[in-house]
Amino acid sequence: MNPLLRVKDLHVRFRTMGPLKALATGTKDPFIDAVCGVSFEIRKGETLALVGESGSGKSTIARTIIGLQRAVSGSITFDGQEIEDLSRTERKPYLRRMAMMFQDPLGSLSPRLTVQSLLTEPFRIHGLKDCDVGGEAKRLLRMVGLPADFARRYPHQLSGGQARRIGIARALALNPDLIIADEPTAGLDVSVQGEVLNLLARLQDELGMAVLIITHNLNVVRHMADRMAIMYLGRFVEVGSTERIFDQPRHPYTEALLAANPEPDPDAVLNRIEVRGEMPSLLRRPSGCEFHTRCRYAQDICGRVFPEPSSTPDDTEHSFRCHLPLERDPATLFERRLSPVDFTSRITSRHRPSASPRSVAPK
Ligand SMILES: Nc1ncnc2c1ncn2[C@@H]1O[C@H](COP(=O)(O)OP(=O)(O)O)[C@@H](O)[C@H]1O
Ligand code: SF4
Ligand SMILES: [Mg+2]
Repeated sequence: MNPLLRVKDLHVRFRTMGPLKALATGTKDPFIDAVCGVSFEIRKGETLALVGESGSGKSTIARTIIGLQRAVSGSITFDGQEIEDLSRTERKPYLRRMAMMFQDPLGSLSPRLTVQSLLTEPFRIHGLKDCDVGGEAKRLLRMVGLPADFARRYPHQLSGGQARRIGIARALALNPDLIIADEPTAGLDVSVQGEVLNLLARLQDELGMAVLIITHNLNVVRHMADRMAIMYLGRFVEVGSTERIFDQPRHPYTEALLAANPEPDPDAVLNRIEVRGEMPSLLRRPSGCEFHTRCRYAQDICGRVFPEPSSTPDDTEHSFRCHLPLERDPATLFERRLSPVDFTSRITSRHRPSASPRSVAPK
């Protein structure tokens, strides 16, 4: 079966200065590579999480998939159709089947439009003029558990949690096959995070859409995602089933992220493994393994040789880029406990081993 979305060897660059300034400052390559040869697939109904520090390229991948950003090279196929090289108009029928929940829900809702206009904007954008605007707004509000009279409100009259719900409702308007949720819980109280995630999980169960979730919150990943990909400086450094990566991370960066996972239980015993220092600038990528400047296991080879992806024979779906992958059971490295936030009970049952053969590979 074809995957719903296939991203292959995706490269996205940004210009860091104009041509004149580049000339004046003698800058030969005034670009940064925000996404560097990323490949992955998402099957129908599946959830893939993208994890990584701020600036690692997660939102750029999302924006490129929905056509807000052009790739320098690489391929994006949706339901078997190459869409990366299509014009905006040609891409429209495919964009109609994907929806994005943006990182900043209030900022992404136009302040001058009512909730009803915001919810039904996707119908207008896609030329569906005959829809019953009032009826659709009510239907969508009901789906996300908000009263019908919210249709008359403006964004400034919404709380953070309500704005997220409107973001979800808007994303669901055209019954998409894929939802891209960029940091859907950022800035929300833990209880509201739980509500929003439960809602997303319930709607995914009911409607069967695939979800690409971008988040810093590893508790969210653990409970929502079938598979996860860890990004560093625009590349995937480890990819695999969520269960496997949490049980046996092989890349030191993953290990450090898991160990640094915010722990709401004050009694939890944590043997913290810090990621040392700042993420390097994309203007000056480290040589060899790009994580070597921060890695506590780095050896001589690491600064010299770029690590290609590898995997273990017992789980070829789990791959990582490291010359010296971790061998030990992480339970002996640090004790991790899962957050007892209230959404866990609802969605723990969703966490299932991936049914698919290798479908994501770092590049
Ligand atoms: N429009 C843009 N112009 C220039 N640089 C950008 C642009 N968008 C993102 N970047 C840069 O690309 C890198 C990746 O950004 P982003 O994808 O937003 O990361 P993340 O979502 O992981 O925090 C960052 O260094 C960011 O500054
Ligand atoms: S290749 Fe070396 S520096 Fe890079 S993550 Fe592995 S051990 Fe650390
Ligand atoms: Mg982002």
